[in-house]
Amino acid sequence: MSQAIPYLDLPAQLRPLRKELDAVIAKTLDNCSFCLGPDVVQFEKDFAKFCGAKHAVGFNTGTSALHIAMMLLNVGPGDEVITTPHTFVATSWAISYVGARPVYVDIDDSTFNLDPKLVERAITPKTKVIMPVHLYGHPFDVDPILEICRRHKLPLVEDAAQAHGAKYRGRTIGTFGAISCFSFYPGKNLGACGEGGALVTNDDAFAARARSLREHGSTQRYYHDEVGFNYRMEGIQGGVLGVKLPHLNKWTEGRRRVAKRYHELLADTPLQLPREADFAESVYHLYVVRHPRRDDLKKHLEANKVGCALHYPLPLHLQKCYASLGHKAGDFPVTEKAARECLSLPIYPELTDEQVQQVATVIKDFFK
Ligand SMILES: Cc1ncc(COP(=O)(O)O)c(C=O)c1O
Repeated sequence: MSQAIPYLDLPAQLRPLRKELDAVIAKTLDNCSFCLGPDVVQFEKDFAKFCGAKHAVGFNTGTSALHIAMMLLNVGPGDEVITTPHTFVATSWAISYVGARPVYVDIDDSTFNLDPKLVERAITPKTKVIMPVHLYGHPFDVDPILEICRRHKLPLVEDAAQAHGAKYRGRTIGTFGAISCFSFYPGKNLGACGEGGALVTNDDAFAARARSLREHGSTQRYYHDEVGFNYRMEGIQGGVLGVKLPHLNKWTEGRRRVAKRYHELLADTPLQLPREADFAESVYHLYVVRHPRRDDLKKHLEANKVGCALHYPLPLHLQKCYASLGHKAGDFPVTEKAARECLSLPIYPELTDEQVQQVATVIKDFFK
């Protein structure tokens, strides 16, 4: 009888690191640097280097980092930010938190990312920022979007929450835009043991203001220059991320190995498989296949003890929370079709070749 294959297996990732993690957490318990502190400072330096950036500012979540990115770019009430409806909702939260309007643009069918051909026609005099997402770990097509940004003098923000270390034309993502934001939610390619996020930038003034805004708008204790937030990264998470970061490239190779095997094993099935664009080196945060009978396939996988998930079943323009934007079904057809057809298979570096083969066999049985 074959073993169950979980959609995500965090214990398998943590097991070999357990001693180091225990030690780094114990260190924080000893020195009581619970909010920011030396491990966060060190991780910020290391993560900035990993991204090839001047600054990384640690946050309590990726959502907070995105919120502050909007503030740094002076986005406010009445402004518009161009973004994708096919993403986790937090991309849009950041826009809403500052009172601006998310303006959605449909996605490209093969990469699930913002379609550069559709971006320019969405620009209005109110547009303040363009914020695509490197979704599922696959970079969006940066060059044509940067060209539009230049033509219209608009800043680019990269939502890099799912794409730590992904490469666009050989260069690590995270410094193409004025600001990029990462999430260290536990299931991310680089995950904390709790919540975490980072804002990455080459701009000294942005980094300094981000540091102040995450800490009550203050650079000197009890003196507050502007209304700020408590968005600090926890000391323990800085330590945990510092232990994990040196493993990230090896983990990415593991994810890419699994993706390659799925590609080989599923090539002759009716599934639409994720395609890596010629400009991209994906870090395969997710491996998302597509099929019109997605719901039946999901039931079949689950009945055969293979975990799977939906990213994302309902596009943002059709969510109840965004009813006030006045969208209707049919507004973004490529996104809506992707939402109906997408199915995320298990992918993590610890997945063995036998497990990948088991997933493929279960899928092939479905199509028999
Ligand atoms: C694309 C995207 N943006 C933003 C976020 C928000 O990050 P966090 O969960 O750390 O707040 C996430 C992850 O959850 C995400 O996947």
